[in-house]
Amino acid sequence: MTDRSHKTVEQAEQEGKYIRKVRSFVKREGRLTNGQAKALEQFWDTMGLNHQDGLIDPSALFGNNNPVVLEIGFGMGKSLVEMAKNAPELNFIGVEVHRPGVGACIGLAQEEGVDNLKVYEHDAIEVLADCLPAECLTTVQLFFPDPWHKKKHHKRRIVQASFVEAIREKLKVGGVFHMATDWENYAECMLEDMTSAPGFKNLSENNDYVPRPDSRPLTKFEDRGQNLGHGVWDLQFEKLA
Ligand SMILES: C[S@@+](CC[C@H](N)C(=O)[O-])C[C@H]1O[C@@H](n2cnc3c(N)ncnc32)[C@H](O)[C@@H]1O
Repeated sequence: MTDRSHKTVEQAEQEGKYIRKVRSFVKREGRLTNGQAKALEQFWDTMGLNHQDGLIDPSALFGNNNPVVLEIGFGMGKSLVEMAKNAPELNFIGVEVHRPGVGACIGLAQEEGVDNLKVYEHDAIEVLADCLPAECLTTVQLFFPDPWHKKKHHKRRIVQASFVEAIREKLKVGGVFHMATDWENYAECMLEDMTSAPGFKNLSENNDYVPRPDSRPLTKFEDRGQNLGHGVWDLQFEKLA
């Protein structure tokens, strides 16, 4: 009998299968600070979500039917926690592969008394594929994804046709995919990929970029980019029926 259950790359590799990985990140082995380690230990049970647990039911998870916002690659989580704190009428799910960032985010959320946020420490591609039900999200946020500047590394960029399709599947009709980048060439590629993807409408008046929305707090990478004199491009696309 064929085994049809979905396996992560790690599980498949343990069984001796070779799977070509082109990932949007390189795992940095940054050390956890004491505070991050403590936050993970104390609060993972209440705030953490595990990829291996499979499909989630957001209403059961949060104990309400509030709209759900997904943020992919939240870094240290400062802007995500700020957004969650400012919008108690929404539920937030963050996904990040960098463990110190996940620890920092959980620690800050606890300090700020934020209880409408849950996080995965996992590859967002696999979380989208295995954990989120279809049409469960009202917003997907992707702020300052790794730009992978060199042309030979563009295949590592997270925004590409298959990713855009996965986002479309998980958004509700009328839901919005919001991207921001400080790398002009990536902004142009995002615009091209999104414009050619079926099932989306650009919310920009000129069919390109939208003004920076007030709802998006300054992120760490944006702040760094601004200090280097970088521009910022925001894109918002709505899922069509
Ligand atoms: C350039 S940083 C931006 C962080 C944050 N959004 C900000 O603006 O400060 C990109 C982040 O995306 C994370 N990342 C990259 N690929 C990812 C993936 N497939 N799943 C989850 N996180 C990812 C990286 O670990 C990194 O923290």
